[in-house]
Amino acid sequence: MFLFLHRWIWSDPERCARKLFNFAETEADGGRDLVRAAELTEDRTLRRLFMIHAADENRHAGLFRSRGAALLHTLPLRSTAILQLNWVSPGERGLDDLRVHAESNASLLAFLHLSEKSAAGHFATYVDALKGDPLTSAVFKEVLKDETFHMNYTLAQLARVAPKRHRLWLWRARLGRLWKAYLRIMSAVAGLMGTAILTLQYFILLPPFAALAKRAARREPQGWISIPPERGRPLRSQY
Ligand SMILES: [Fe+2]
Ligand SMILES: [Fe+2]
Repeated sequence: MFLFLHRWIWSDPERCARKLFNFAETEADGGRDLVRAAELTEDRTLRRLFMIHAADENRHAGLFRSRGAALLHTLPLRSTAILQLNWVSPGERGLDDLRVHAESNASLLAFLHLSEKSAAGHFATYVDALKGDPLTSAVFKEVLKDETFHMNYTLAQLARVAPKRHRLWLWRARLGRLWKAYLRIMSAVAGLMGTAILTLQYFILLPPFAALAKRAARREPQGWISIPPERGRPLRSQY
């Protein structure tokens, strides 16, 4: 969806490099959370799978980081692109707000499945959008294989640990993601409203005060003012 928009976002090499560093951080963070999940679960199969998953996420972090560094080396020292537009083209979002301690095996698997599914969808789009940069496109292609495996194993394991209620867990996870998306949008809207209100205040409220201050300044006598002799006492103290 909106392939032209993704093409434009990824066409700037500096933005591309910054986004890859950002993605690498999310992947590495997700990997650490999965190691913690492996420590906490009592299910031996899940422990082994979470460790494999964690190693994959760590490898993704390395792939993104080294491609980002290679791109930055090709750029001049000063460049202007800053906006990463991660709200349009995110990385493995979801892994960044994983609360391992608060989750049961089933809820964690449902949450992971949806996050991996969404990441796989995004990364497949980036493979196409980056046709002009085959090396970066190849990195996403490589990562995409693992994300597809993560997406599939989490669903299969969810069906194993909660055979009768796995659909319910998926719906709960979907609602949780919707709520988080709502909060993200609302905080962005609040930020925009704050900027708009402060800008309006600057242009509407400040000018009258500035005019009053200028008028008061005009009334002030200019230059040195002679002090009456009774006020010309020697300074012996602060008061
Ligand atoms: Fe990943
Ligand atoms: Fe993943």
